[in-house]
Amino acid sequence: MFAMQLTDTHCHLDFDAFDADRSQVIERARAVGVQWIIDPGVDLSSSRAAIRLSETHAGVFAAAGVHPNDALSWDNHTLPELRQMATHPRVVAVGEIGLDYYRDRAPKDVQQRIFRQQLDLAAELGLPVIIHCRNATADVLRILAEKRASTLKGVLHSFSGDQAAAEQALALGFWIGITGPVTFQNAADLQLLVSRLPLENLLIETDAPFLTPHPRRGQRNEPAHVHFVAEKIAALKGLPLQVVAEATTANAARLFDWSKTA
Ligand code: NI
Repeated sequence: MFAMQLTDTHCHLDFDAFDADRSQVIERARAVGVQWIIDPGVDLSSSRAAIRLSETHAGVFAAAGVHPNDALSWDNHTLPELRQMATHPRVVAVGEIGLDYYRDRAPKDVQQRIFRQQLDLAAELGLPVIIHCRNATADVLRILAEKRASTLKGVLHSFSGDQAAAEQALALGFWIGITGPVTFQNAADLQLLVSRLPLENLLIETDAPFLTPHPRRGQRNEPAHVHFVAEKIAALKGLPLQVVAEATTANAARLFDWSKTA
């Protein structure tokens, strides 16, 4: 029934929200055509857990990184450990890294310092980056622009900026990650933006267990729900779902280059 190949490029499969039924969650995702899932770490132990899942589940890949909300966990051992993890064959990116001025759990200068260090690590290793950006679009784009000479590429995960910010990101060679909020009734601005952005620049994500799309809002999110995001993009662009599924999977395979490990 589903010949479709969907990819969820951002799912926190290692979080304890999935401890009770992780295998069933992965099976349900496969049943609706989700063939590939990327689990980005948010700190060292989460990155380690993501790598373990990638070793034991076909189609699951990991990213290693320290999230801006966990910036205060950073110490002298963090960068060498991340560097070691990032050489694992199932690690396809450095992430989730970035800036979060909304939660504001760490001072801005600390967030920016570890963001830059992890961008440099990704450049050094030739890996793409998965970027979390909340109320910090200007600073994220400024830092990415400064780093551009190092040929960074990546995705702005769960993009929430405006058209100008999206165009800047595309000009820097970045993809735009679209999550559940695009399905919300009150998301007219994001929907208009998605209808205008080229399909070849989009990735689809759940950010599960968070950001559950309509019509499952109020429940725990899971990677099977990425098809609601794909359906919404298809509707906004007036394209068949199959076309959106194929294109976003091809985009993910190109950015994260998992052919070498799959
Ligand atoms: Ni996330």
